[in-house]
Amino acid sequence: MTTLSLPDAPVDRWLEAARERRSRRSFDGSKVSEEHLAALHESCERLRPSPGARAALARSVSEELFRGIVGSYGRITGASSALLFVGSADSPQASTSAGYTGEALILEATALGLGTCWVGGMFDGSLARKMAGATGDEKVFSVSPLGLPMHKVTTTERFVYGMKKPKSRKSVEHIAPNLHDRDWPTWARPGAEAARIAPSAHNRQPWRFRADGGAIVVSFDGPETPIVSKRLDCGIAMLHFELAVRAAGASGSWELLEHRADVARFTLG
Ligand SMILES: Cc1cc2nc3c(=O)[nH]c(=O)nc-3n(C[C@H](O)[C@H](O)[C@H](O)COP(=O)(O)O)c2cc1C
Repeated sequence: MTTLSLPDAPVDRWLEAARERRSRRSFDGSKVSEEHLAALHESCERLRPSPGARAALARSVSEELFRGIVGSYGRITGASSALLFVGSADSPQASTSAGYTGEALILEATALGLGTCWVGGMFDGSLARKMAGATGDEKVFSVSPLGLPMHKVTTTERFVYGMKKPKSRKSVEHIAPNLHDRDWPTWARPGAEAARIAPSAHNRQPWRFRADGGAIVVSFDGPETPIVSKRLDCGIAMLHFELAVRAAGASGSWELLEHRADVARFTLG
């Protein structure tokens, strides 16, 4: 049984970062400070809740890593560093773990004042593998640029990525349809609220939460997708869920599942 939890997570710091974070794709070209790189390197080494996934820091990157034609989904400019999210290629559970672990690094980088953007499709996979020091069956599931974002949202970000307004999110009743039923545990409500604001590929928000005998099960809606697994999106939302549950005074952990669209079950304890 594979479980995921980060009992030592800085809950308030990361929840504040989760509320402030938005994907940034235009950076000012300046280098990330040594102090911040050292802190992120230490976080990559320490935050390993599952043996199936890890994050790696690339201190210096060129735009080659974020391969993409102008205006395409994935166009990143001016980032000096990157995070790479790695896992075992043939395990569906590794996608979930990579999402969960990667979001911990994304929130830490956000708390340090850095801009980030999950990039799942448009990046150079073999360059990313080399930069992450991937071995054996390890694969880079996703990367994120790291750097100081342009002070203002750029024209490309505004028009191509619709960044004029905050990205829309599905209602909490949509992602947790039985939220108002009697068997929905009260401790889990803040979790669903925090999962709602998580980032996802194409902002598809595939996560669905349901009560299951005092526990909460997360699954993904619709069919699974080949390039960016919906399990990875769910892993991201699972970290948000856990942080908010802990902030409300409860704690527990996720057990990873592989049955059809079920991704994981959260139980208190
Ligand atoms: C797993 C994953 C993969 C993503 N891939 C890309 C990508 O390839 N290119 C890109 O520009 N944005 C990518 N995004 C960013 C999403 O488009 C973004 O998170 C979503 O639209 C919500 O916007 P927000 O992050 O500003 O809240 C990805 C996000 C996730 C979670």
